[in-house]
Amino acid sequence: MPFPIDRPRRLRKSERLRGLVRETHLHVEDLVQPLFVVPGEDVRQEIDSMPGQFHLSVDQVAIEADAILRRGVPAIILFGIPENKDPLGSGAYADDGIVQRAVRAVREASPELVIITDVCLCEYTSHGHCGIITDNAVDNDASLDLLARTAVSHAQAGADIVAPSDMMDGRVKAIRLALDESGFTDTAILSYAVKYASAYYGPFREAAGSAPQFGDRKGYQMDPANREEALREAELDLEEGADMIMVKPGVAYLDVLAAVKQTFQRVTAAYQVSGEYASLEAAAQRGWIDRKAVVLETLLSFKRAGADFILTYYAKEAAGWIKEKY
Ligand code: PBG
Ligand code: ZN
Repeated sequence: MPFPIDRPRRLRKSERLRGLVRETHLHVEDLVQPLFVVPGEDVRQEIDSMPGQFHLSVDQVAIEADAILRRGVPAIILFGIPENKDPLGSGAYADDGIVQRAVRAVREASPELVIITDVCLCEYTSHGHCGIITDNAVDNDASLDLLARTAVSHAQAGADIVAPSDMMDGRVKAIRLALDESGFTDTAILSYAVKYASAYYGPFREAAGSAPQFGDRKGYQMDPANREEALREAELDLEEGADMIMVKPGVAYLDVLAAVKQTFQRVTAAYQVSGEYASLEAAAQRGWIDRKAVVLETLLSFKRAGADFILTYYAKEAAGWIKEKY
């Protein structure tokens, strides 16, 4: 038996050679930075459950968004924490709501930045569910109108892309129709099409004060055991008019991300969620992992699995790391 002809190590000899044959690359253009907007002025308060991330008032969000754009990150996604919550989540679709004001301020400060808004009710409802409640249950069809109103008010404020994360059936179609009726035919929809009922959202819910006050989200978010259902969810949202689809959370669902991308060959995003961020930060703080190396390896894994872009709390920082590499 002669020595094998093939020696894969030949192509691993130097960093230049490895770069030449590298299959996947992480670009600054692939990243989206999530930001949390809160009431008040001059607020820049670190979030306990997400060290290194901040609650920002509208004025501060405009400053931060501009710094993010100057790093080369093309887009942000905004989450709002309103002054008051009520059963119908009226802060979500108020003309002077927290996200609407933030969008206007960011748009004025950074005209080129791509502004994505999260469309959901859970940050705005007193009960913390993503839709409104009828007879102690989340009422799918009654929630659609409010979600559509939220999306239209974000578009009115100047959002480029609306991203519904509520997981109500039929919401992409309801939002598309409402946007078109209001003249926002060019506002794109990034659907959280495949969103699992995940414990990885814990730190976010603490940051947004959006944990459900009764029950859980398993009646509308997906069962983590299901992969075929993910393809069905993605298909439905594309049929309803989604321009782009998302799989969430990230690393624990890379198999689903790969399947969705391969099956539909449409623009597909991945969301590295709060619990993933918090876990990496906790391990790094203890010196148990090499923070920068693990973060970059993790972000690259999304690209390898097929993601076109990544929503990540590391966007701003990783942009610096990616640039310094080249
Ligand atoms: C709102 C929303 C959530 C996240 C994004 N949009 C929380 C949830 O569904 O409970 C999670 C983001 C994260 O954990 O980083 N529906
Ligand atoms: Zn929600």
